[in-house]
Amino acid sequence: MTSLDPTGETLPETHLALRQNVYAEPPIVERIPVPQILPGTAILRVHLATIISYSRSIYDGTRGYQYPVPLTLGSGAIARVAALGADATKLKVGDLCLLDVTMRGRDDIGGEEEASFLSAIHHGHTEASKKLMSEWRDGTYAEYVRWPLENCHVLNQQKLLLPLTEGGLGYKVEDLMLMPTMLVSYGGLGPNGVGIQAGDTVIVAPATGSFGSAAVHLCLELGAGRVICMGRNTSVLEKLKMTSVFPERVSCVPLTKDWQKDYAGLKDLGGKIDVFFDISPRVAHDSGHFKAATMALRYGGRVCFMGGLREDVPLPLSKIMHSDITIKGKWMFKPDDVKKFIELLELGVIRLSNEGTGVQPLGGRCVKKFRLDEWKEAFDTASELGSAGFVVFEP
Ligand SMILES: NC(=O)c1ccc[n+]([C@@H]2O[C@H](COP(=O)([O-])OP(=O)(O)OC[C@H]3O[C@@H](n4cnc5c(N)ncnc54)[C@H](OP(=O)(O)O)[C@@H]3O)[C@@H](O)[C@H]2O)c1
Repeated sequence: MTSLDPTGETLPETHLALRQNVYAEPPIVERIPVPQILPGTAILRVHLATIISYSRSIYDGTRGYQYPVPLTLGSGAIARVAALGADATKLKVGDLCLLDVTMRGRDDIGGEEEASFLSAIHHGHTEASKKLMSEWRDGTYAEYVRWPLENCHVLNQQKLLLPLTEGGLGYKVEDLMLMPTMLVSYGGLGPNGVGIQAGDTVIVAPATGSFGSAAVHLCLELGAGRVICMGRNTSVLEKLKMTSVFPERVSCVPLTKDWQKDYAGLKDLGGKIDVFFDISPRVAHDSGHFKAATMALRYGGRVCFMGGLREDVPLPLSKIMHSDITIKGKWMFKPDDVKKFIELLELGVIRLSNEGTGVQPLGGRCVKKFRLDEWKEAFDTASELGSAGFVVFEP
């Protein structure tokens, strides 16, 4: 296990990494050279790395995500800076950082080339993003990782990890691993997305999955007056409400696949609805909630589409036009979203699951840490957990 004590680490010559040498074939733990430090980069000792609900289907090829091989697999992580490129201006050796997997071309400032991709997950959608990933392919399922300086976001370890009795927020490091999941919905719901305001009523659909349940918690932390959770599984919906930080502000509407019934369920709640946040998986393309939730919005309402859909879905264009509805698509989040999110976290405005404070939103708790060689059980567990929590690698 990586020590949380920042002192005394020297870089070894080799380290262990979870590698895939042939696309979609089972990965193996290999001993490989530790990456060399280069200008513009940091080498970090990985402490914990996220496993997403669909990691298994990314790496066994069923999801069809494209990436180059050989590859060290990975996702978002918390890691400590072990070495720094000579041009680092702010980061210090020993800093504890959140590693953002959203890689962006440094020479594509305006984003025209769409030179962005997800580290070790997907090579993006342009020639520029594919070129960038061929250079920056290796992810965080390893003891050490080389990361772009601008994707290392420093965490105030004292503030976050010291016990409540000593003026800290009392988190365990694994509690912080909810951040990468909440950050996705912060991208869509925060200031660079549809910008939810205190008092807003927000529909989250579907609300029972890992990103959906994190979005529900985020809305409440950002001051939503009411969160309407839509989902097929009514018992999970009920748990989502009862474990939330403000159960009295959460309402549930079952998804029936019939948009008119879903719409009636929303209207029966009464009151105005400001925002509809969609985080559907691909298989939900025939769900009725796209139309129902858009129809239920107030005049001037906002929609944010973050779901991983490939097929088109029916939308009520007449409603969108007559009610002045704004539709925003969002992929991931911007670097300043990460900064803002960490600031809100360190201020205690956004709270993560924490035994000490009793904040325990559904799906917000780390239920197990896996070694790299336990990858199969780790991926299987992540895919089966739903909103029961999350698992991580501890390389
Ligand atoms: N835009 C972005 O930047 C971004 C970032 C990350 C993820 N995503 C996308 O987010 C999506 C969700 O990821 P996740 O990890 O939260 O997935 P997940 O944990 O598997 O949750 C899936 C959710 O969808 C519901 N669902 C499944 N099939 C459905 C159907 N046919 N009709 C209605 N609801 C259905 C599930 O509810 P049940 O309990 O009823 O099955 C559950 O609430 C993914 O497709 C991913 O691509 C987008």
